[in-house]
Amino acid sequence: MADLSVDFAGLKLKNPFIIASSELTNKLEKIKWAEENGASAVSTKLTFLQVPLYARPYHIIEKEGAFYSPSGERMKVEDTQELISQCKEQTELKVIANMMGPGGDIDAWVKLARMLEEAGADMVELNMSCPNLGLMAKQVGKDEKPTLGAVIGKDPELAGTVCKAVSDGVKIPVMAKMTPEAETMIVSEACWQNGAAAVSAINCPQSLPPLDIKNGGRPMYPSTGNQSTAGLCGPWIRPLAYRHIAQIRTRCPDLPLAGGGGLMNWRHSVEAIMYGATTLTYCSLLYLKGYKAFAKIEPGMRKFMDDYGYETLADMRGLALKYIVTPGEVDYIPMLPEIDLEKCNGCGICAAPGHCECIEIIDKKAVLVKPKDCYSCAVCYFLCPKDAITMVEAPIENTRAGVAMKEM
Ligand SMILES: Cc1cc2nc3c(=O)[nH]c(=O)nc-3n(C[C@H](O)[C@H](O)[C@H](O)COP(=O)(O)O)c2cc1C
Repeated sequence: MADLSVDFAGLKLKNPFIIASSELTNKLEKIKWAEENGASAVSTKLTFLQVPLYARPYHIIEKEGAFYSPSGERMKVEDTQELISQCKEQTELKVIANMMGPGGDIDAWVKLARMLEEAGADMVELNMSCPNLGLMAKQVGKDEKPTLGAVIGKDPELAGTVCKAVSDGVKIPVMAKMTPEAETMIVSEACWQNGAAAVSAINCPQSLPPLDIKNGGRPMYPSTGNQSTAGLCGPWIRPLAYRHIAQIRTRCPDLPLAGGGGLMNWRHSVEAIMYGATTLTYCSLLYLKGYKAFAKIEPGMRKFMDDYGYETLADMRGLALKYIVTPGEVDYIPMLPEIDLEKCNGCGICAAPGHCECIEIIDKKAVLVKPKDCYSCAVCYFLCPKDAITMVEAPIENTRAGVAMKEM
């Protein structure tokens, strides 16, 4: 049976599943649910020595899967200390303490990390990535002091300075959490070279949600009168997360990397590992679908690994990286769609795409009428609701892509 255990920067985890820092991890009872449903570690809700501004959760959720979250209730260090010691007494979980100091006040970062270490934290996670603190103020010219959140994570030098001071100041491993607003591979490398034992990627990118257009563009949030930029999380950020995971892994091959952002099922979890993640983080999945959905990830990944002969996570890790090349190096394979007329119901979805004139509906069936204009792009294959289309290799002179390639 597949072995899901992993050594994550010295933390011995029974599996790679970590509940990401959020209101999912601010109370003992919720943390116990995380354990009961298969997590091996939790990152507790963001903690400060002094909470810099009032905030409480307010969210917009779109049916397609977007989840906009401009704010959440942050924790005072005394409350987090209490929470950590309760977790250590009453659960087997590894506890990662998510924390933030004021950007330039390095002593405050070290002091806070030590307090969390003394309370029993197994690791501290330096939050230099919150999209809802500091970044928007800076963008609109309200250069608030102290420097907070993603403003720190966009500055590799400052991020490295913070990592160096905190990792010199505590004995437990230090993880730095990346903002996708930055070149994460550069910031990760700076953190790794300055003592961080691990990196997590990604926190939410900045976004703005849909509007109440019948009400003069008022925000949709029922419980606020206006809005700041919002952290976008959930399924829509998954491809962005994959990009950052792959780039960090490519730049720093040995760096322990907690990968997450939009992971909603076991398949996404396998993908993140194949892109190079060491461990995996989940947040929106539990907000949107609850612990029952999270509990399916472990058996799903285990079955996949057993079915495909992967004995350990290391066997899968980074497998996809060898397929990532620059645009000029893409290896195009000339192909044509082959339509199974038994399965085709003539719905016309494959004939609709605006860039393609190759398929027409004739006598209620899809017909490839202009194969020589086919780009081999496979949009029809992905769109077909009946799985009636397969892409098959075609002689180079029979396809538009093949002919264009020959002419280059
Ligand atoms: C409501 C909410 C609160 C969050 N609070 C924190 C936090 O306190 N510290 C932190 O580092 N990230 C925080 N995050 C970011 C998540 O930990 C996670 O990195 C992000 O949501 C992307 O993952 P997901 O797509 O699985 O949600 C929060 C996210 C949400 C939705």
